[in-house]
Amino acid sequence: MNEVKLIQLPKIFDERGNLSFIEKGKDIDFDFKRVYWIYDVPGGEIRGGHAFKEQEEIIVALSGSFDVVLHDGITETRFPLNRSFMGLYVPKMVWRTMLNFSTNAVAMVLASTFYDANDYIHDFDTYLKLKNSYA
Ligand code: TYD
Repeated sequence: MNEVKLIQLPKIFDERGNLSFIEKGKDIDFDFKRVYWIYDVPGGEIRGGHAFKEQEEIIVALSGSFDVVLHDGITETRFPLNRSFMGLYVPKMVWRTMLNFSTNAVAMVLASTFYDANDYIHDFDTYLKLKNSYA
């Protein structure tokens, strides 16, 4: 699995409230080592604005809504996330930005790696150069 894609996760409809889940090997192929979440985002703030050399991830809008803008070095695509049963798979070496957070939005990220500051590429031009050298 190495292309950006939206994944429909299992959803158990229930009058008492719905339930969704992610199972490694079924819904996602990679081993996730870390889960983190972004919340209490003030209106108009932008998160992300970087790429990862190794980390791949799934992003889920657990609550509320936000947009994930992905740039693969050639094309930019915007993914509005607002369903807690949809996951956006982001491979390594994709530039990603998260914005347009609604009030009470919660973004959950399942990451394939432990946190490593050295895995980040913070400069877009550096990202483009590295990306082109991979191709
Ligand atoms: P960062 O990944 O830059 O946030 P975003 O991409 O949403 O803008 O992380 C912000 C800060 O949090 C940074 O100082 C690193 C720290 N951090 C951790 O310590 N562990 C983690 O798992 C993550 C994702 C971030």
